[in-house]
Amino acid sequence: MSTYVFDAYGTLYDVNSVATATEDAFPGFGDTITQVWRLKQLEYTWLRTLMDRYEDFWTVTRESLDYTLTTLGLDAEPRVFDTILDRYLHLTPYPDAAKALESLRNQGHQIAILSNGSQSMLDDLVRNTRLDHLMDAVISVDARRRFKPSPEAYSLVEQQLGTPPSDVVFVSSNPFDACGARAFGFKVAWIERVTADSLHQELRDADPIAPATLFKVLRLRMDALDLDPEVRIHSLMDLLDVEPQTLGKPK
Ligand code: 2OP
Repeated sequence: MSTYVFDAYGTLYDVNSVATATEDAFPGFGDTITQVWRLKQLEYTWLRTLMDRYEDFWTVTRESLDYTLTTLGLDAEPRVFDTILDRYLHLTPYPDAAKALESLRNQGHQIAILSNGSQSMLDDLVRNTRLDHLMDAVISVDARRRFKPSPEAYSLVEQQLGTPPSDVVFVSSNPFDACGARAFGFKVAWIERVTADSLHQELRDADPIAPATLFKVLRLRMDALDLDPEVRIHSLMDLLDVEPQTLGKPK
């Protein structure tokens, strides 16, 4: 039995699914808002951790949405703003998420989330998307007041589950998160949602480069930090073909 720990936003859940609300609110700006919002949201988690000025992910998500709309010159009434923000409690799970989690549980593995999300955001999200029954634990970095990739965030897994890092298979689509987990000492499976070939083709076809394509360039290819994951998968179901004991070469 192994412990599989999943990142939430971008890994189990599609953060681009906020676009239904952003495009409804501001037709023609949906993609730009969605991508700038996510970039700023992550940036604020790193800035707040480095400055030791932690505020929870709901606050950071609200601040980054406010930055995005203000900077784009889009004036949202409070009701519209809250409707967009509320999408973070109802993100669309990736199509293979439930089946992959269920299959791993049926094999007797422990399943958890470790996410930047605040505890209440995560509890609402897994309940709203009916994944809560598949989770042995939903761990928020709130308890450490440090966002990923801070080692203190990853240390919560052993603290809350009692599982040593070498027995944890950490799964993330976010390269910075996969690198942080690798540096911490987890076995890491990176879900490569955008391959180099597909991105190069998208860039060749782009005229101009869409915000979603630029986001892929900036945040969805493995970073050059010499912390490459031991295994790259292209679907969460690919985890069933990965033998955990073959992973774990320290970096
Ligand atoms: C998460 O912590 C990294 O935002 C991503 O779920």
